[in-house]
Amino acid sequence: RFRASLDAMESLRIGPARTQDRATTLEVAPAEGFANEPDTDPSLPANRDWAARVLARSGDSRLGVGTIELASVRDAATLEQRITEAHRAGAAWGAVPGAQRARQLHDAGDVLAAFRGRLIEVMASETGKTIAEADVEVSEAVDFAHYYAERAAELDSVEDATFVPPALTVVTPPWNFPVAIPAGSVLAALAAGSGVIIKPAPQARRSGAVMVEALWEAGIPRDLLTLVDIEEGDLGRQLIAHPRVDRVILTGAWETAAMFRSWRPDLPLLAETSGKNAIVITPSADLDLAVADLVKSAFGHAGQKCSAASLAILVGSVGSSERFERQLVDAVRTLRVGYPQEATTQVGPIIEPAHGKLKRALTELGEGESWLVEPRQLDESGRLWSPGVRTGVRPGSEFHLTEYFGPVLGIVKAATLEEAVRIQNGVAYGLTAGIHSLDPDEVSRWLDTVEAGNLYVNRGITGAIVQRQPFGGWKRSTVGTGAKAGGPNYVATLGRWEPVEAAP
Ligand code: ALA
Repeated sequence: RFRASLDAMESLRIGPARTQDRATTLEVAPAEGFANEPDTDPSLPANRDWAARVLARSGDSRLGVGTIELASVRDAATLEQRITEAHRAGAAWGAVPGAQRARQLHDAGDVLAAFRGRLIEVMASETGKTIAEADVEVSEAVDFAHYYAERAAELDSVEDATFVPPALTVVTPPWNFPVAIPAGSVLAALAAGSGVIIKPAPQARRSGAVMVEALWEAGIPRDLLTLVDIEEGDLGRQLIAHPRVDRVILTGAWETAAMFRSWRPDLPLLAETSGKNAIVITPSADLDLAVADLVKSAFGHAGQKCSAASLAILVGSVGSSERFERQLVDAVRTLRVGYPQEATTQVGPIIEPAHGKLKRALTELGEGESWLVEPRQLDESGRLWSPGVRTGVRPGSEFHLTEYFGPVLGIVKAATLEEAVRIQNGVAYGLTAGIHSLDPDEVSRWLDTVEAGNLYVNRGITGAIVQRQPFGGWKRSTVGTGAKAGGPNYVATLGRWEPVEAAP
């Protein structure tokens, strides 16, 4: 039953083995001396007052604008200069002992925590993220700082090998976690002793800028951590393919990773890419819990997470359970959809007006499908949609196989657990996967056969916790080293390891 978790434990090695920690993550035991940063507790009156002030400011569309304007780069010569400066600063930083870098990273964690309100304001303003989802992101960013600080300190203590830091790392984060993911990538690179150039996602450039401001305020020099805002195209290619770049950390579409590789075939890439994730629900499940976890995993951040549940696979009698269907429909219909400035909003807007495949998924049905809850466009913006649930999704259909990144869930029915796993594994990706079952034998069979990096049993499938649930996928959900974010090997795989010559 615990084979997968033993594999995960097996990966808790750092150092010269250059372990690829692709082992499936269940949950790793809490580490001595590391505690996850708590989220803001909304039940405390003082926190509710604070949240009201944060939300009042979050309507301001100028947040972060000044910094991002200063970071704008429009020509190749300026970009070349930034690369040279960051590379030079990185080379010096790599010579600083790991323990000293660790102190700097702990300071960064403290300042990120102090920036909580400002970070939430800009995320809500720019991307429409709700306060609760944005709050969790800040906690995760703080966790990355303290966790990777300790990994930096460990690098110098490996006896039979020497860690050679990358001099320059380029970070290209996504818009859907506009603080936690760029912070995690930047902090890991800094922990490894690298200079960093970060290019925020165009839809979340102001959020990235405020996160970088926090790190500058913590004492990380502006050349060591360089923010560049460039249009994609020739300048993007110049940056990614530049011979001085030792490492690229990408979180985004699998196609973007493939494009980066086409620009530079030997690119040292660490990429966390797409997902198409399902939760299997068996007749032994606690259905109340299953519905709650499914709804949160499917519609949190309006479904715009690589880890989101896009499919529910109902085994046997669950597929014909009126009680399950009624509970699911009620839960989805009562979600409060709106803009984040409204404190009660649970499902916010999507990042841009629905178009292309997402528009089709919100408005059209495939063969044999019908709506349990039909999505509706709620205003003129094209960004606000009530969540939808379609049933009758057939294995091999477009909905089964496609990642959408929006508030729409599909239900597939399977006769047996084995058939459910075949459907779950039948996609190109392997990022997160869940099962709701109270039968240990079922859970064990599922763990033995499911193909995904992060496995969750009787829990939602989003919101991996730093250190306890290192995050990363299999198959088309990862490109490059395969190291897991928030896990023990992430920092150690960013550089090179050279064997120490044995004394004669
Ligand atoms: N790390 C994020 C999650 O687990 C993507 O939801």
